[in-house]
Amino acid sequence: MPDLRILFFALFCVHPTRSSLCPLGCECSEAAQTVKCVSKDLRSIPSGIPGYTRNLFITGNQIRRIGPQAFKGLDNVTTLSLSNNRICEVESHTFSTLRSLRSLDLSSNQLAVIHPEAFTVQSRMLRELNLSRALYNHSSITDLATSLRWSSLEGLLGLDLSSNGLVYLPPRIFSHLSSLRRLQLANNSIVSIYNETFSGLEYLEELDLSLNALKTFREEGLLELEHLPRAKLNLGQNPYTCTCGIEPFAAWLNVSQGKVVDVERLICMFPVDLRNTSLLTAARLILGCHRAGEGDNLALQTSYVFLGIVLGFVGLMFLFVLYLNRKGIKKRIYDLRDTCREVWEGYHYRYEIDSDPRLAQVSTTADV
Ligand SMILES: *[C@@H]1O[C@H](CO)[C@@H](O)[C@H](O)[C@H]1NC(C)=O
Ligand SMILES: *[C@@H]1O[C@H](CO)[C@@H](O)[C@H](O)[C@H]1NC(C)=O
Ligand SMILES: *[C@@H]1O[C@H](CO)[C@@H](O)[C@H](O)[C@H]1NC(C)=O
Ligand SMILES: *[C@@H]1O[C@H](CO)[C@@H](O)[C@H](O)[C@H]1NC(C)=O
Ligand SMILES: *[C@@H]1O[C@H](CO)[C@@H](O)[C@H](O)[C@H]1NC(C)=O
Ligand SMILES: *[C@@H]1O[C@H](CO)[C@@H](O)[C@H](O)[C@H]1NC(C)=O
Ligand SMILES: *[C@@H]1O[C@H](CO)[C@@H](O)[C@H](O)[C@H]1NC(C)=O
Repeated sequence: MPDLRILFFALFCVHPTRSSLCPLGCECSEAAQTVKCVSKDLRSIPSGIPGYTRNLFITGNQIRRIGPQAFKGLDNVTTLSLSNNRICEVESHTFSTLRSLRSLDLSSNQLAVIHPEAFTVQSRMLRELNLSRALYNHSSITDLATSLRWSSLEGLLGLDLSSNGLVYLPPRIFSHLSSLRRLQLANNSIVSIYNETFSGLEYLEELDLSLNALKTFREEGLLELEHLPRAKLNLGQNPYTCTCGIEPFAAWLNVSQGKVVDVERLICMFPVDLRNTSLLTAARLILGCHRAGEGDNLALQTSYVFLGIVLGFVGLMFLFVLYLNRKGIKKRIYDLRDTCREVWEGYHYRYEIDSDPRLAQVSTTADV
């Protein structure tokens, strides 16, 4: 045992700084200030990563959880890639100690549990966050929304959320990323853009929504795009459905072509007979929809006029029948008048009897 301790001492005496040490399974280059631990079946972040490290790549391993203990004493790391591991849980303040961290790549992981302050970096220097193919399933978006809110990411410039199977983006999910310039949402399953989806992103310069499940943009979605005054948009490879419902989007495209980088490549997917038609060409559909609308009104008016004519005709027929029967009717009216008169006289007579007290008395005594 004492021998071992001496050996240990000797090691540190011969190498007074730890700079020439390199963790097992990693390659260290002091000149390039780079450490790579690539595809070595590592189960955790190796200890003893040299302090000079600026670029740290721990990729293609079997790491499952990372927490605040992992990156102690790595003040100079600016670029950290943990892509292609099996990370499923990121604890709060995992990266806090990486005071110079500017770029964090967590792509191709299986994040299921993301703690609220998972991405907090003390210096607030984080500029790039890559979460492409990083979420375990769509449910993880809720955790992510919370941690984007609580991780003090006001300085973030780029966020990659592509290929995550996202169906829905919670309202205001990006509202605390007030400096964000680039947002990648390509290759998800986003069905619609709702109110407040992109609120707070007034400096956004690039938004990629290609390869999603958008059939159209409704008014509220178009308003969201309008609220990104500087953003260039990628909207291609969505299953646009060129029926009348696409009218507001097509009209918006017609006047906002400059905003949409791939406007020439936007094509109808449905209906089948319009497949591959450019959306700009299909904008003529708008006229089609309007004309159909006017046609409907015209049909309605025509039917009112027709109803009027029919009613008028029925009325005329009625009068004509009355005219033909005028003699019979006259006779019947006279008969009616006579009957009425008789009834009236009878009634009048009874009234006189009833109202004359003497006669009434006579009648009552007579009754008795
Ligand atoms: C970080 O870099 C600075 C200079 O860039 C250097 O003085 C310092 O020693 C480095 N930190 C560590 C822990 O090596
Ligand atoms: C994020 O990572 C993926 C996969 O590693 C890569 O293809 C993509 O270019 C990265 N995104 C950015 C914005 O660099
Ligand atoms: C996502 O995974 C979690 C944990 O396995 C599960 O509880 C949840 O139902 C899954 N959500 C979806 C949308 O598949
Ligand atoms: C889209 O995402 C899926 C996984 O969600 C991935 O397998 C596929 O390669 C991605 N496609 C592109 C073009 O990035
Ligand atoms: C969506 O936004 C509009 C105006 O911007 C507002 O009138 C409407 O109430 C909002 N709808 C919802 C569901 O928040
Ligand atoms: C649409 O275009 C693609 C490629 O441009 C082609 O493979 C496909 O056959 C076209 N479909 C129709 C219905 O024209
Ligand atoms: C597209 O915009 C032009 C003017 O920029 C206008 O003349 C044209 O009618 C519009 N087309 C449609 C279908 O709205």
